[in-house]
Amino acid sequence: MSLSLLKPEIETILSSEETVDSKLENICHVLKQNVKHYDWVGFYFKNGDKPELKLKTYAGKPTDHIIIPFGKGICGQVAVSNENFLVEDVSAQDNYIACSIDVKSEIVIPLFVNGENIGQIDIDSNTANAFTQEDKNFLVWLNAEVAKLY
Ligand code: SME
Repeated sequence: MSLSLLKPEIETILSSEETVDSKLENICHVLKQNVKHYDWVGFYFKNGDKPELKLKTYAGKPTDHIIIPFGKGICGQVAVSNENFLVEDVSAQDNYIACSIDVKSEIVIPLFVNGENIGQIDIDSNTANAFTQEDKNFLVWLNAEVAKLY
């Protein structure tokens, strides 16, 4: 499906009366349910003043990686680089934290509030080379909308 078709549903969630945490949880579930190549969807945020990320909410299989130090794995690298990171083949990455042996590709998009990288959306796919510019553009839009909650 075209990812743009999900935008109204995302907007409805974001403008609802629910808490920020349940909005983020609902977004994870909507993305995982509606996009075939999204097998795990989660939001990590900077953990207070510590140089690490903490998993806030996700849809998909449970992961052991609730805390990720800055610089470690794809997520930790994005916390430091402030850049989008599309990984076509996770097995080709040296600095990668495996959450499941099924995962083949990954995309991580930082979330900026007033220019500060406060967290990220992380999506895993069990399909190799699953992510395109369309995913990137959609997730950049999504994070800009989520940033308005903060
Ligand atoms: N693969 C990520 C770790 C998070 S899991 O995908 C949920 C990484 O390398 O940072």
